[in-house]
Amino acid sequence: MRSTYIVFLFFIFTLGCSKKNDIVTVVIPPTLVIVTPPVVLDTNLYKMMPFPMGASINVSLLKNSSIYNGLVTKEFNSVTAENAMKFGALHPSENTYNWVDADYIVSYAISNNKRIHGHTLNWYKSLPSWVTAFSGDSIAWESLLKSHIQNVVAHFKGKVASWDVVNEYFNSDGTVRNSIWVTKLGQDYIARCFQYAHQADPDALLFYNDFGQESSPAKRNAISNLINSFQTRGIPIQGIGMQFHINFNQTEANIMAAINFAKGTGLKVHISELDIAVNVAKIQGLVFTSAMASQQAEMYRSVVKAYNSIPKSQQFGITTWNVGDADSWIPAFQGAPDWPLPFDINYIRKPAYKAIIEGAK
Ligand code: G3I
Repeated sequence: MRSTYIVFLFFIFTLGCSKKNDIVTVVIPPTLVIVTPPVVLDTNLYKMMPFPMGASINVSLLKNSSIYNGLVTKEFNSVTAENAMKFGALHPSENTYNWVDADYIVSYAISNNKRIHGHTLNWYKSLPSWVTAFSGDSIAWESLLKSHIQNVVAHFKGKVASWDVVNEYFNSDGTVRNSIWVTKLGQDYIARCFQYAHQADPDALLFYNDFGQESSPAKRNAISNLINSFQTRGIPIQGIGMQFHINFNQTEANIMAAINFAKGTGLKVHISELDIAVNVAKIQGLVFTSAMASQQAEMYRSVVKAYNSIPKSQQFGITTWNVGDADSWIPAFQGAPDWPLPFDINYIRKPAYKAIIEGAK
């Protein structure tokens, strides 16, 4: 795949000459032209990787875009619902669960032999208004928390292999985020989330998931203390999810710090939401150049290479946060264009695709 085509071009120019109709033949020496070929078209990303390779999935695109659906089927062997398993999507009112979109992703994944990672049982965001307006006492809040977690985990039992149980519990300075859950139930509600999930499906792998671990030693330290406390108290936890919403200027030192930290926990490690933004200054009208694509590809390569240094038994896999650049959450979030994913807006492989494969060699 990395072969280079060597093309010899041999030019013979035959020129007419005015002198007595003589013909003068000018021979130009062979010219060496190096052409870097495109990535071979029939590869499947996941088959090239030594660990599971996943993407988060937008259910509308999965249903309505055959290109998107076909690409996910071809390139990935693990899927995460980008939004369809969040509290607000699954449980829109107190006595109503809406399984339609999540079930669609799950049955797609099962029929195509994809692992399903669940995201997320508990988060301070994407809550329906009936929860944010809920006025019960602490017993009623505990019941709300427990019944949501256990109904969701039980619904997908035996199908969803693993869960992000709690998402983004910490602030970047390592303090506990002041979420509605902490306010209503106290900081240790997080341990009960893991216990409730484990009771509902003892075989599911349970992850703590958070962003910014590459840039915050304080957050890493807080997560480490949480894991130690869980292990001391016998609270089930099998994995750590590092989101890795990074940009192409991130340093290798920071990436290695996060990877080494995760490795040191001894838990399974999931790079759970990988994307690499390039419009760091959030410039309107920025154009994605081949230089930016190369720099981004190098960062993808670095992340994969670092991840591949984790022992095999701890490699849960890498998941990109959606598939093509047009599907990414980043442009809307930052209010400026970006191109963070390994496939472009037409689902053509970018240089990042090849770099991911090479990073794992
Ligand atoms: O589905 C509604 C649609 O009916 C409505 O018309 C539209 C109007 O705004 O909103 C649509 O919902 C949006 C949803 O994405 C689906 O597109 C929400 O507003 C929007 O807030 C939501 O954003 C998601 C965000 O999490 C919040 O849940 C992003 O797609 C998703 O990529 C992002 O993912 C998070 C991870 O879960 C956790 N880690 C960070 C990551 C990025 O923020």
